Amino acid sequence: MSQKIRGVKGTRDVLPIDTYVKDEDPWVRVGHYQLIEQTARELFPLYGYREARTPILERTELFVRGIGEVTDIVGKEMYTFDDRGESVTMRPENTASLVRAYIEHNVNQQEPETKWWYLGPMFRRERQQRGRYRQFTQIGVEAFGNPGPRIDAEQIEMLERWLRMLGMPFSMHLNTLGDANCRPRYREALQEYLRAHAGDLCEECRKRTETNPIRVLDCKNPKCQEVVAGAPRMQEFLCDACKAHFAAVQEALQRLGVAFVIDPKLVRGLDYYKRTAYEAIATSGLGAQSTLAGGGRYDGLVKELGGPDIPGIGFAAGVERMALLIAQQGRERVTRPVVFIAPLGEAEAARADQLAQQLRAAGIAAEVSFRKANPANQLKRADALGARFALVLGDAELKADRGKLKEMKTGVQHEVSLSALAGEVKKLEGSG
Ligand code: HAM
Repeated sequence: MSQKIRGVKGTRDVLPIDTYVKDEDPWVRVGHYQLIEQTARELFPLYGYREARTPILERTELFVRGIGEVTDIVGKEMYTFDDRGESVTMRPENTASLVRAYIEHNVNQQEPETKWWYLGPMFRRERQQRGRYRQFTQIGVEAFGNPGPRIDAEQIEMLERWLRMLGMPFSMHLNTLGDANCRPRYREALQEYLRAHAGDLCEECRKRTETNPIRVLDCKNPKCQEVVAGAPRMQEFLCDACKAHFAAVQEALQRLGVAFVIDPKLVRGLDYYKRTAYEAIATSGLGAQSTLAGGGRYDGLVKELGGPDIPGIGFAAGVERMALLIAQQGRERVTRPVVFIAPLGEAEAARADQLAQQLRAAGIAAEVSFRKANPANQLKRADALGARFALVLGDAELKADRGKLKEMKTGVQHEVSLSALAGEVKKLEGSG
């Protein structure tokens, strides 16, 4: 036998099968993903978001300038390669890509405000652990052209509603990161404080003190957290405009009945954020990688990437993490056959194929047996597939153009006309 070829580390297969053993994670199936996607597809348009699809490959410069050179993502996690003289990167996130598309197509000249949502794979070369992968899926939204604060609350409320629809256990964390006016003063004060406590910080945070001191706030190391507990807080440095914005977001959230906690340590891992930052954090079931979704306001990013000075706010959710929680709850979206047709001979098989075709055309999920087996074994197979009805087709049924639809759960048999099968099934479905 030739050697097996295994999948790349940090990537996952998501399959429609029921049992899977060789994985430290609970086995996540396609149906869990579909449930998450479907709810987003239904909910987001109610808030005016429309789907946008952008390429996986972008010019590397987009992320270097968009996300920030000193972030972990750009510094060490990007899948970047030379494409015959041009450096390209597999997107590590989608905000920069959507901003690029927004600018490239002059969208602001066509509409004053734009709301987009997206779904797709992102790539970061991170250390693999439960809930953290090198290829992962995000569902996210971006709203361009509105400086807030009401839209900030509207978007947070939408995220909350979506996660609630899916039964996620989570709490919403909120913070403000100030803006170009007030953050530099905070950064300086924080840096000064961290330098004075450098001896108590981990090596990474000693480096961050010089390159990106705000990131020290969310270091998980207990010693760093002790230092952080006494650090100056952004809220004490906010300029009047940022203070008013933050207060108004909170009021709007209260009006909409969204529960949230103010979290001064919430700083986000990408450099483009201004003012509002928020995260939905799972309260159980996920361990260390518990942030289900994160986002915030990025006024200034569109301009930074060569477009007009247009504000924006968005979030992205990690679909794998959500799917893990749904798998633990045992919820899933699956289409089971409504009718399983088991023909006993060749003439019956030909008729069965046509009957299945007619059922599907009428929107009824149908499976035909391709195996030769006795009726008892055929019924076993119908049961294993989770079919609602089984129809065994023999010579007598064909001649009479009538058959018996057996209800798998109860064993009740319904006599039906084969020529009018789709209508008969619909009637029974309605009554069941
Ligand atoms: P982010 O916080 O980097 O933000 O990612 C958002 C979510 O994606 C995380 O909360 C997490 O659920 C998921 N995620 C991130 N990395 C991984 C990974 N390696 N494996 C599994 N899941 C992961 C952004 O990407 C921003 N673009 C969000 C945003 C949109 N901000 C404004 N607009």
